[in-house]
Amino acid sequence: MKLLVTGGAGYVGSVCARVMVDAGHDVTVVDNLSTGNRDAVPEGARFVEGDVSAVAEDVLADGDVDGVLHFAAQSLVGESVEAPEKYWYGNVVESLALLEAMRRTGTPRLVFSSTAATYGEPDAVPIVESSPTRPTNPYGATKLAIDHAISSYTVAHGLAAISLRYFNVAGAYAGAGENRRVETHLIPIVLQAALGHRDSVKIFGTDYHTDDGTAVRDYIHVHDLAQAHALALEAAVAGRHALYNLGSGAGFSVRQVIDTCREVTGIDIPVVEAPRRAGDPAVLIASSDKAIDELGWQPVKTALPTIVTDAWEYIRALGDRAHSATA
Ligand SMILES: NC(=O)c1ccc[n+]([C@@H]2O[C@H](COP(=O)([O-])OP(=O)(O)OC[C@H]3O[C@@H](n4cnc5c(N)ncnc54)[C@H](O)[C@@H]3O)[C@@H](O)[C@H]2O)c1
Repeated sequence: MKLLVTGGAGYVGSVCARVMVDAGHDVTVVDNLSTGNRDAVPEGARFVEGDVSAVAEDVLADGDVDGVLHFAAQSLVGESVEAPEKYWYGNVVESLALLEAMRRTGTPRLVFSSTAATYGEPDAVPIVESSPTRPTNPYGATKLAIDHAISSYTVAHGLAAISLRYFNVAGAYAGAGENRRVETHLIPIVLQAALGHRDSVKIFGTDYHTDDGTAVRDYIHVHDLAQAHALALEAAVAGRHALYNLGSGAGFSVRQVIDTCREVTGIDIPVVEAPRRAGDPAVLIASSDKAIDELGWQPVKTALPTIVTDAWEYIRALGDRAHSATA
């Protein structure tokens, strides 16, 4: 297939772009490098630098692109609370421009990176696709708004679309991994502390009603996630917008993650206990049964030590290319 990958210089997009190139697809990456890295764009993919709204239509203009994988987004929850305008413009307006470019050029398929944050605080876990969507921050609200826009484009214009709602993506694949200027994700933060790039790791909340008192999250290996994108591209049906959760179906507590990082690295990573953060639910676990049943998705890298080992090998190999650790 001929594919446009937006955000392909970022973490998830670069891994998916690599998997698509390796599978023989013709890939063009569009990325404005606002949070991504030029050297993350895989060899074998064309690269066009710019905002989606400015350059995507040119890439689609020949009318022979088979599908778009849309990863480009602003995705820092805390920042979205402080600067919602960056999220409504950067996520919603940019994505509407992409939908319009696809409509005008007759581009038939879209796979969109949605998120667990569209659900907000769940009434029950595991979270299924029919769970209520009550985002608790502008990041989740903008992603939900895009999901709604996609639904109406499928009905009105015959677009074939699939939204994949990821939980916490982690791990690395073939030299591509997490290397952000501002890091907020637990596993890279713990591994940066192991490397001495941070003094310690903060545990926010030790009094949750969970086995060890710390919050529980669902981690999905980025390579399993990329496989789901490949399946979604094949499964998308004209006029239909399908939604799938993607997680490992298992939850790991913050303490379990830190202990696994200590075991994998052999380093006694220092921790500091801090109060809970507002709006952080105790447990977030996905049911991925629908993706398994309907897409035939089979996550294989579900063991936490596997995910951490891949992330650790990647982060150690970064050397001077690692961005400084800020959260
Ligand atoms: N990482 C996770 O755990 C996770 C979980 C759920 C959903 N997601 C979603 O997956 C997608 C990728 O996340 P990530 O962790 O790889 O983020 P990332 O910040 O590493 O990648 C995003 C990429 O998009 C680019 N970009 C942003 N706005 C752009 C625009 N308007 N035009 C062109 N390029 C633009 C950035 O430069 C960056 O390269 C995002 O949509 C995010 O919301 C991620």
